[in-house]
Order: sequence, then structure tokens, then C-alpha cells
Amino acid sequence: MSKAIAGFSKLTKEQKIEWIANEYFAAPDEAVTLLKNYWNTNESLQKLHDEFIENTITNFYLPLGVAPNFVINDKKYTIPMAVEESSVVAAAAKAAKFWAKRGGFKATVIDTEKIGQVHFLFNGNPDNLTTFFNSVKLKFFEGSQDLTKNMQARGGGILDIELRNKTTQIENYYQLHATFETKDSMGANFINSCLERFSKILKEEALNHEAFAENEKNIQVIMSILSNYVPNCVVRAEVSCPVEDLIEDASISPKEFTDKFITAVRIAEIEPFRAVTHNKGIMNGIDAVIVATGNDFRAVEAGVHAYASRNSQYSSLSHAKVEDGIFTFWMEVPLALGTVGGLTTLHPLVKFCHEMLGKPSAKELMQIVAVAGLAQNFAALRSLTTTGIQQGHMKMHLMNILNQLGANDVHKKMAVKHFEKNAVSHSAVADYLKHLQTTDPSKIEEDFLQ
Ligand code: MEV
Repeated sequence: MSKAIAGFSKLTKEQKIEWIANEYFAAPDEAVTLLKNYWNTNESLQKLHDEFIENTITNFYLPLGVAPNFVINDKKYTIPMAVEESSVVAAAAKAAKFWAKRGGFKATVIDTEKIGQVHFLFNGNPDNLTTFFNSVKLKFFEGSQDLTKNMQARGGGILDIELRNKTTQIENYYQLHATFETKDSMGANFINSCLERFSKILKEEALNHEAFAENEKNIQVIMSILSNYVPNCVVRAEVSCPVEDLIEDASISPKEFTDKFITAVRIAEIEPFRAVTHNKGIMNGIDAVIVATGNDFRAVEAGVHAYASRNSQYSSLSHAKVEDGIFTFWMEVPLALGTVGGLTTLHPLVKFCHEMLGKPSAKELMQIVAVAGLAQNFAALRSLTTTGIQQGHMKMHLMNILNQLGANDVHKKMAVKHFEKNAVSHSAVADYLKHLQTTDPSKIEEDFLQ
């Protein structure tokens, strides 16, 4: 094993690339050229991207696609999606068009409360701690005025602070459990700054609290950090229509389709192995919009899956029912999002996506993101319960296979046409490409035109 490199972050970008290329690559020059091919020729744009993180060596592309024809609460949207999986955008666009003809999606923000905690150890009488907390509670609000005044001016701020006793699980362990309203910002920096201030106030006030015994004065703060579990920052998305309007072709009756669809959702409600994949399909839509709008997809993922387990078993996020002949499909998801701060004004493409969405507020973005998730789930379940997922999926994956096999543009065009009527698989594409490459072009042209 080679020696650890010292001072790597202090090297220039060129030096870092040089080191990596020589250390790990059989052909260092090729590695350098590859990385540089992804640099933007606009130097200031490249510098902006370089400075997002430490040790940037190049840019890592993801396609930015759009799914048009979404109708949400009677407003039209074209939704931006940054995602690598071939079928995601097409599925969203298909579901959007389908539901636009049936009244569109309805979405409602249920609540927007964010959470943060100061985790600390207190070695003493819990009643004394409660008395102390009640006597100093106001000081947490007063002592963080400098941090909260701008947020308060926007209608947000600290909502409440509670003392929670966790000593049955960990000896001497307590929390300050604080709730926040952060309006259009995701609020991570605001919440973490407030929490660190609370922890300072907590320690100082405890030292000066005369009613505490000596052993009670030394509160040990373990950490102060927001929670990405936001079960009270929730949005609901929904679609509904008469059962007989649910199917456009005659391959399956509306009643049979609805029964199968509802059973598929029911399976995801009770069976964790299915629920994880079902929810993964929802996250295909959610993450793609989260990334495109510069939000934190890791935070959203962690929070959503915790929410899916809130009743002690991992379960479906979405639900479906038929009542009085009306099919309803809905989902409630926790989404802590921002439309100001972070990357929203920094990353030019993120800015573009916000403008394309009409510069939504955080609440409106919660609705858009939840709808993208529900649309994705609807598209997946519709395929799974009718044609199966592979037909559409492999059609979309065809271009990746053709690119992997090095097909030229003419052959790609021919393959797309050929596989409109034939099942796509890696070997079928390879065989067809071989046929194209080894057959007289004039003969192929004839075949192609037939
Ligand atoms: C694939 O990315 C997502 C699906 O597996 C979701 C599902 O099974 O519901 C198709």
C-alpha cells in the first residue's frame, strides 16, 4: 500500500489530478485528459463549481430532463428532473399527461415544523433539572435573538423548546428538543446555529444555578444538531377519478386493473420487502426533483424512510382505495425543502429549474416534489400490474445498450425502429447490431424502409 499523502487539499487542482493519475492509472495521460474534458470552458463557471466542495478535480454530469404537462392544484408545471435512470423522466411525463386529463394532482402542505436537539448528560435529580429548565427556558429565546431576528421578520423562528428525559435508555441522558419554522429556507444552518447557542446557554446557566448541587452544575453537552426526521413537515399528494376512466385500452377492464392496483399497494403496506422497492420508485421521482432544485437528497431520503417505518414496520408511503366508484391514490411524505439559500441562487442550473417552476415557495416546492413521487409510483404500479416493468424499462434502456456497444448514429436510429416491435434485451440488441454491421448497407436500408 502506498504512503498516505500529506497536505493534499493544499495542492492546486492540476497537482491533485497529476497525483491521482500517476498513483492509480496505467495510462496517466488519458486519465488527465478525461478529467479535463469535463471542465467547463467558461473559467468563472468552472471556478464556481470547483468551490462547491473540497478537492474538486472535475465535474460529474447527470442528465437534466423535464417532465411536462403536470397539473397540480389546477396550475401547469414542467418539472425538472436530474437523474441517471433511463425510464424515470418518461414515466413521470406519461403519468402527468394521464392525470392532466383527469383533473390533475391535488397537493396540500399539512405542516412545516422542523426539529433540532441538544443531547446532554446531567448527573443529578431529574426534578431539579425540570425546575431549572422551566426557570431558564425564556433565556434560550432571548439569548438567540441575534440569530432569530431575520427569520422572525419572515414569519419564522423557534416554535418551542422542551426538556426530554431519556434516562431509561441511557444513564443521565436528556435532550432539549426544539421545534422551528424556517419558512422558505431548508433551515439547517439556522437550526444548528440556534442549537449551538442553546447548548452554550444551558451550560452557563447550569453553572450559575444556585439550587443545583455541585454535581448537578456540570452539564455535559454531547452534541447539538438538527434532525432530518421531520414527521411534522409533511405534504399530501393525491389523484382521483371514476374507476371506469382509469384505463384507456381494452387489454384489461377498469375493475380488474383497479383491483390489481389496490392489491399491489396493499402488498407494499404489509410486506417490507415489497415496500422498500415500492418506495424506491417514489424516490425516483422525489430525488430527481430534489437534485434539480438544489436540495439535500440525503436528508430527504433519510427522513422519508424513517417516516415509512413510523408505525414500527417499514411500509408503503402511498395508499389507494375505491369509494362510491371513485379511485383515489394518495401519499403523505415528510419533505424539509428550501427555495432560498444553499445552492438555490448559486448553481446556475438550479436557479434555472426554480425559474422554470415559477420560483415556488418552499411549500409549493413540497407539493411539486410529492406529486413527482406519486406520479412515479403510479406509473410503476400501472406497468407492474399490466405489461410488467421490463417492456418499458428496456425500451428506455436501449440507448444505453447501443452506446455501450459502440453503435453509430445510423445504426442507433435503425435499432430504435426495430425494437419498437421486438423485445429489448442486451443479447437481442447485440445480435441486431452485429447484423447491421455485417450486412450490405443497401440491403439494410431496404429492410429498414419496409
Ligand atoms: C425502478 O427504479 C423502480 C421500480 O422497481 C419501482 C416499483 O417496483 O414500484 C419499478
